[in-house]
Order: sequence, then C-alpha cells, then structure tokens
Amino acid sequence: MAVGVSGLTLCGDAPSILAQATTTRVFTPSIILGPFYPQIKSAEQDADLTVLAGRQKRAEGNVVHLTGRVTNMKGEPVRGAKVSVWQANTHGRYRHQSDANPAPLDPNFQGFGTQTTDAEGRYRFKTIKPGAYPAPVVGMRAPHVHFEVEAKYDRLITQMFFPGEALNEQDHFLQFVKGPYREAVIARPAQPTGRIEADALSFVWDIVLLSG
Ligand SMILES: [Fe+2]
Repeated sequence: MAVGVSGLTLCGDAPSILAQATTTRVFTPSIILGPFYPQIKSAEQDADLTVLAGRQKRAEGNVVHLTGRVTNMKGEPVRGAKVSVWQANTHGRYRHQSDANPAPLDPNFQGFGTQTTDAEGRYRFKTIKPGAYPAPVVGMRAPHVHFEVEAKYDRLITQMFFPGEALNEQDHFLQFVKGPYREAVIARPAQPTGRIEADALSFVWDIVLLSG
C-alpha cells in the first residue's frame, strides 16, 4: 500500500518518492485551506460550536459530536497539538465577507473552534452538520469541516468529509484524493458515548501526522 505525507496535497497517485516507504498506516493528506478561513475569529473559540455565551438558542441544524485521535506514523499519540476547525453553518454559509452564498447566516453558530489534544492525542468537538454550498468555479461542495492541526513538528491543513453523502462523488477537492487517502479524510459513524441530543450525530475521525 502506498503512503502519503502529512502536509502534502495528493493529486492522483502518491509520488514515487513516497512509494519507497512501506507501511499500512496512511497519512492524513492535506487539502487546501480554502477561501473562508476566518478573517476575524469569534471571541469564543471553544470546542462547542453550537452555543455562544449570552445567547438563549443553540445553532440551527443537526448537532454533530466529533471525536478522534491525532497520532504519528508510528501510531504514537500526538499530545498537546492544537486542533482548529471552521465550517459552514447548516445552510451552507460561512461567516466570511468573501462568501457570496445568499443562504442565511446563523447568529448562534460559532463557526470556529479550537481544542488541544490530551495525553492520548484525543480531541472532541460539538458542532453542527455543515450544509453543502455552491463554491465559485468548482461547483457544489459536499458537507465538510476544515481542520488545522499544529503539532511540534507538523502542521496539517485539510478537510474532513461525512460518510454516505451523495455530493462526495462530485466534490471537486475530494476527487483528487484517491484510494486509502480518500478513506482517510472521511469520518466514520460512531456509537455515541454517553447521553447526546435526540437528533445528534456522532462521528470519529482520526488524524495521522508524519512526525507529530
Ligand atoms: Fe469549506
């Protein structure tokens, strides 16, 4: 099985230089930052994107509990990594001045969050299932969450997709990610741990860095 390198955007087959390495562990490939990285991050940047301090209502849409581990190529936990996420709201709209999508903003959606991995490399976010949205030039984007992982040696910028989405088959950026790398950027459904909201969804998405 070929391998990829964290921080490398893979288009087509993995580069031959990487084929010399043999392992069954697959790096999480990089996918572009995109145009909607928050210019101004909300004052609140915690790991619960569904509620904002001082507001009575939570964000619209299906709650998503997203958990996972950050490990390195040896399978060792990457502790103390800063994991940041940003995404569209349930209507497919980013709080960003460059987003021309006429879909509504959600004043209760945080849109950006951060978390530091624990001793086992674990992270956890509570968010909203992002809506699909029309992107300039590349067409409809499948629902996805943007990730940035800042560790001691590696910095990874990528996107996480949801399983079973029809738009996964036509998402411009996901089409460039092949074979095991494609699997590596799609979350898995998970059994909820503990009590969660009636309409909530749970997913696991593990991230593999080159060194950590
Ligand atoms: Fe996006």
